[in-house]
Amino acid sequence: MHAAPGREDFPLLAQSVNSQPLVYLDNGATTQKPQAVLDALAHYYEHDNANVHRGAHALAARATDQFEAARDTVAGFINAARREEIVWTTGTTGAINLVAHSYGQRFIGPDDAVLISEMEHHSNIVPWQLLCERTGAELRAIPVTAQGELDLSTLDTLLDERVKLVSVVHVSNALGTVNPVRELIQRAHAVGAVILLDGAQSIGHMPVDVQELDVDFLAFSAHKLFGPTGMGVLYGRYELLDAMPPFLGGGEMIERVQMSGSTYQAPPLRFEAGTPNIADVIATAAGIDYLNTHDRTALAAHEATLLARCHALAAERPWIRVVGESAHKAGAFSFLVEGAHPGDVGTLLDQQGVAVRTGHHCAQPLMDKLGIPGTVRASFSFYNTLDEVERLFAALDRVREFL
Ligand code: ALA
Repeated sequence: MHAAPGREDFPLLAQSVNSQPLVYLDNGATTQKPQAVLDALAHYYEHDNANVHRGAHALAARATDQFEAARDTVAGFINAARREEIVWTTGTTGAINLVAHSYGQRFIGPDDAVLISEMEHHSNIVPWQLLCERTGAELRAIPVTAQGELDLSTLDTLLDERVKLVSVVHVSNALGTVNPVRELIQRAHAVGAVILLDGAQSIGHMPVDVQELDVDFLAFSAHKLFGPTGMGVLYGRYELLDAMPPFLGGGEMIERVQMSGSTYQAPPLRFEAGTPNIADVIATAAGIDYLNTHDRTALAAHEATLLARCHALAAERPWIRVVGESAHKAGAFSFLVEGAHPGDVGTLLDQQGVAVRTGHHCAQPLMDKLGIPGTVRASFSFYNTLDEVERLFAALDRVREFL
């Protein structure tokens, strides 16, 4: 087997599925977890479990220290200017909903517009639809070309001073397209809009530096970053977070509660009502610490080799149609097999030990735009090997024979 960096650190990858060694190519849905993350979870529950920010005992102090140290880890990882700019959420979806409710409710009105794109995952569409229904604001979308890229020529008409917020995906979950986010950020700021990046599919594949990008909000999930499920991060520029009203109310987010009314904490605690997901916060940091032991440029180069090999093997097979032909792609290889439904291809691949995702990838408007019901998506992480790419295509050859 060709080497893949760190593969031996992921216990699950050693298993067999349907009597064959597992080829896990569904990393866009969730990555596997290194032993360091599994150990962090077990260690926390075995040794340090207590509630944070409120106990008068040693365990509570230990839990709080680790919980807040994890905030420093995330702030360092994305180069936030302040640790208070890191808000724990339930995931990318939770982070986007927080901004749509809190920022949207305060700063977006009936004369305003929100700009997204046709490439978005449902979690970066529906919260804005709901906001626009509540406020009367207009929802606009940057079109996608047949190659699976954003048509930026439309920005001259779509991005005017009525747009108060732009929310776009950094890397498409369905196609792997890497969007020109620097240009989008500059263009949004030029009309006075704030911009949110959905980093769910970029954060595990490339460094994301919020200060260098000059982005206002960044949302991402821990479980696509080698960490636990149900956990995510909202980064927000401090002055924006500070101007935003609470989203969820409850303990932890208050300063003083009286029957006549309440006052609230400063960010980030203002947005962290209730007992947080302490163990998973700590495990999220363990995943980042683990990732930081690798040279990320080398990981990205390895993943680019895997994708290039997919494209080369697909080019030898005229019955495979690649969906998403941007020159800038990361993580995902989406395709169709001539004459076969993506769901059937996925089932036949699974029988050969190859795990992929099929369907609309929670991006129905994108599939509508491309005129297809869905795709088969092989999505990679750095622990995948060239041999696994070969096994995918050998399995596809058998699918083709079978069908
Ligand atoms: N967003 C995840 C995916 O693309 C769930 O599979």
